[in-house]
Amino acid sequence: MSSTNRTFKLRVWRQNGPKDKGRFEEYEAKDITPDMSFLEMLDVVNDELIHKGSEPITFESDCREGICGSCGFMVNGLAHGPDPGATICQVHMRHFADGDSIVMEPWRAKAFPVVKDLMVDRSAFDHIISAGGYVSVKTGSAPEANNIPIPKDDADEAFDAAACIGCGACVAQCKNASAALFTGAKISHLSLMPQGDAERGRRALTMTIKADEEGFGSCSNEGECEAVCPKEISIKNIARMNKEVARAALGK
Ligand code: SF4
Ligand code: FES
Repeated sequence: MSSTNRTFKLRVWRQNGPKDKGRFEEYEAKDITPDMSFLEMLDVVNDELIHKGSEPITFESDCREGICGSCGFMVNGLAHGPDPGATICQVHMRHFADGDSIVMEPWRAKAFPVVKDLMVDRSAFDHIISAGGYVSVKTGSAPEANNIPIPKDDADEAFDAAACIGCGACVAQCKNASAALFTGAKISHLSLMPQGDAERGRRALTMTIKADEEGFGSCSNEGECEAVCPKEISIKNIARMNKEVARAALGK
């Protein structure tokens, strides 16, 4: 692919807050190098908008290296854009050809109200965590790592589930706006560890009930969540969550 600078036609969702109806607006991103990240491309567009006295496009970001989970919006219908296993802050403009049209929209889910433009309020995820995504037993000071033997397979599965960064892409891509992958990952990483075992039943019930109360939909096994998850969290975690809920309901 050529390394020359590129121009893109942007169609961006602009919305002044949760009550505003919102609309698409069109912009041109000029002089974009293939090595720029997607967010750097938006920085260039925003610099130009500010220079002209116009309102810049609001989007959320912090680490810009795939760790914090704060960035994220739909790019041409795909949560986090075209690069699998990456957040939008990790996507580079080399994935787009000169002259491409790029459509950007915020996550669309009742539980994630739009704050402004491409930024949504993901506090519903915090409420699910507050409902049970923690270990409340006293574990003392940091013990020697090998004091509690944990089967390697369990440790690996727990570690993979703990990689969830709470970005919300799974909800955004799901036709039901389900938070099952997020909630399943959080339930899994704690229930697989002996420290999380004592509260596993209560945790599975309180977190799944809270997800429902927050307005997330049910899971119908579409698999879209797993396909767009930047941390490649497996839908096996949804199956584990369902098993944990069934065990708790049966008092096992
Ligand atoms: S499961 Fe994946 S897509 Fe969903 S919040 Fe966690 S990291 Fe993001
Ligand atoms: S800005 Fe932190 S993951 Fe994208």
